[in-house]
Amino acid sequence: MTSLQDLDYPQQLLEYKDGFLVSKTMFTACELGIFDLLHKSDEALSALTISSHLGTSADGTDRLLSACVGLKLLKVEMKNNEAFFSNTDVSDVYLVQLSPRSLYHMMMYYSQTLYKCWHFLPDAIREGKSQYERAFGVSSGDIFKALYRSEEEMVTFMHHMDSVWNICGKDIIAAFDLSSFNEVCDLGGCSGGLAKQLLSIYPSSSVTILDLPEVVQTAKKHFITDADCNIAFLQGNFFNDPIPEADLYIMARIIHDWTQEKCLQLLNKIYKSCRPGGGVLLVEVLLNEDRSGPLTSQLYSLNMLVQTEGRERSPCEYTKLLAHSGFRDIQVKATGKIYDAILGRK
Ligand SMILES: C[S@@+](CC[C@H](N)C(=O)[O-])C[C@H]1O[C@@H](n2cnc3c(N)ncnc32)[C@H](O)[C@@H]1O
Repeated sequence: MTSLQDLDYPQQLLEYKDGFLVSKTMFTACELGIFDLLHKSDEALSALTISSHLGTSADGTDRLLSACVGLKLLKVEMKNNEAFFSNTDVSDVYLVQLSPRSLYHMMMYYSQTLYKCWHFLPDAIREGKSQYERAFGVSSGDIFKALYRSEEEMVTFMHHMDSVWNICGKDIIAAFDLSSFNEVCDLGGCSGGLAKQLLSIYPSSSVTILDLPEVVQTAKKHFITDADCNIAFLQGNFFNDPIPEADLYIMARIIHDWTQEKCLQLLNKIYKSCRPGGGVLLVEVLLNEDRSGPLTSQLYSLNMLVQTEGRERSPCEYTKLLAHSGFRDIQVKATGKIYDAILGRK
């Protein structure tokens, strides 16, 4: 078996080095619309046909298609010595922009925002702070102001946030019995992706999403339809404005954005607004207590440094934060997917 420890041929190390080449190949194929074009086509297409549809170079397109075949994002068949390409089932479901379970916007956010920020990872480690200012020339004093630097960026970020709940939202909502909570407040609920998953399991509940004014306006414009009548919106700042009374507060990927002090400030405020018998549901990736992994959570914690003032935490760290704020009966449930759930009761 080869491993990093294999001194004769460090296979794993060489694969790690190529990690970003793999990501950027997939992002580029998404961005250029390769999967969209092949999805619309009734038949497999040649590199020449694809390049003429997309207005891209024949040679560059041919190499990109070939790399996508190597990554198992595309299938290839040879006819009369010419290669014809088509989507794999996974690409059809997840990489086509208009597919209901599309992760296209997640790929675009990674490609256009994270990729640029991660270029400055060494600076982030040296300075211990977000690199938005270096990457985009916008002040990182308030990370969400920097993140929402244009409506287009905001929509891409919101789609990115939204899309993950199509693939793991139900696991989060099913982690605990939430049937006793009628009025739910989703703090920083963004596009309403997780709220919709909650309402699909508990249709008689109602959810109020509290988010920044520009996010609420964009959510209403791009993400909410008449079918979402159990979702209400409140424009505000959860640090400065009152938090409405509710039975359950959802905080999905919120705590990981902020410093320990700000997390405690927010959780104390929520505890005061929470009805007796109510609760708070944190949704986050979790680090192992012994710091051994999981690798995804460890990388996401680096990403929180590069992008925010926060960090990823272990179950024990979340339990302490909740207990400090007054919550009790704290339970942690691993879902087996990226995000896990932590429930505390008042
Ligand atoms: C990382 S996103 C998580 C979005 C959503 N909860 C999810 O998991 O899909 C953080 C969210 O918090 C919102 N937010 C950031 N600062 C806020 C503030 N001070 N008051 C209200 N919402 C805020 C952002 O606009 C964004 O929607």
